[in-house]
Amino acid sequence: MKVDGKHFRTIWLAEDGWGVEIIDQTRLPFEFVTVRLESCKDAAHAIFEMLVRGAPLIGATAAYGMALAVRADPSDAALKRAHDELFATRPTAVNLRWALDEMMAVLGPLDPSDRAAVAYARAAEICDEDVGICHSIGVNGAALIKTAAAKKGGEGTVNILTHCNAGWLATVDWGTALAPIYVAHDAGIRVHVWVDETRPRNQGFNLTAWELGRHGVPHTVIVDNVGGHLMQHGMVDLCIVGTDRTTAAGDVCNKIGTYLKALAAHDNGVPFYVALPSPTIDWTLKDGLRDIPIEERDAGEVTRITGRAADGGVSTVTITPDGSPAANFAFDVTPSRLVTGLITERGVCEASEAGLKGLFPERA
Ligand code: MRU
Repeated sequence: MKVDGKHFRTIWLAEDGWGVEIIDQTRLPFEFVTVRLESCKDAAHAIFEMLVRGAPLIGATAAYGMALAVRADPSDAALKRAHDELFATRPTAVNLRWALDEMMAVLGPLDPSDRAAVAYARAAEICDEDVGICHSIGVNGAALIKTAAAKKGGEGTVNILTHCNAGWLATVDWGTALAPIYVAHDAGIRVHVWVDETRPRNQGFNLTAWELGRHGVPHTVIVDNVGGHLMQHGMVDLCIVGTDRTTAAGDVCNKIGTYLKALAAHDNGVPFYVALPSPTIDWTLKDGLRDIPIEERDAGEVTRITGRAADGGVSTVTITPDGSPAANFAFDVTPSRLVTGLITERGVCEASEAGLKGLFPERA
């Protein structure tokens, strides 16, 4: 997508052909800063500290982290160390494991002297594949938005609620939940997006609103508790969110607060769609509530908040009383029964084992 007229992906190879560039998402929306990664440690740090985040981009960064690692030391021991260091960064998004498995599968059997070139090539392929997948999700999901527009007699605007950031910043390009919105908007369908704040890290306010604004998509930011009220008053036509891990039975694990939006949508008859690339499906799991590891992050993300002060400077302030303990659960699980459909690169399916296997018969 474009930033001030220039096309950007969220991760790319530097001009010297070996360093890896990323957008530092912890600085948005206040500053647009790119950062160069030169080692596996840099990549692990970028994932852990959320300079990059979003399930597909975590996977892509891990793939390049492996490439940086084997460039420095292609031995079996270093390969294993890099895998373990990257794997330990964040537990919930299964794309991390998927990308590391892909890299290990191609690099493991090779002579160490051949590993670096192959690692860079596979990491680049993973990025290109993600772009293609996300664009297809956009096309498939836009058809749902078109149907919603047609239901309104082609008049008026389709109001879509989204949670967290599952836009191009969360992937290599296009996004998952936001891709259908971009495709629909570019096709001339009138859309308006309700952007959930997404405490504690404010991915909605900081990233989704920024992205949509840059692309000219009409949107309104709302705090996390507003969605239910909007749905009760017919102000949401559909919800589209992303997912960090989807079980083989169609349960989805996404940013904390997604489940409450799904409950409100269910209670109000609002369609609730989840957009996902196939590497986000964990075919080994069936019961999301029991089996998906939920990341718990530093309590400081809850007790402090960052913003722009009146003097234009960016600062972080404490918003809770000294001594009050805070808990920071980063994700929750929405059971498949609350999900209207899964939007994938191969089409839209029911959130169920049968639905997913219908689209991915090779997994049956
Ligand atoms: O903690 P984050 O910012 O990595 O969480 C991101 C999300 O929850 C996204 O909705 C999810 O990764 C899907 S991204 C296409």
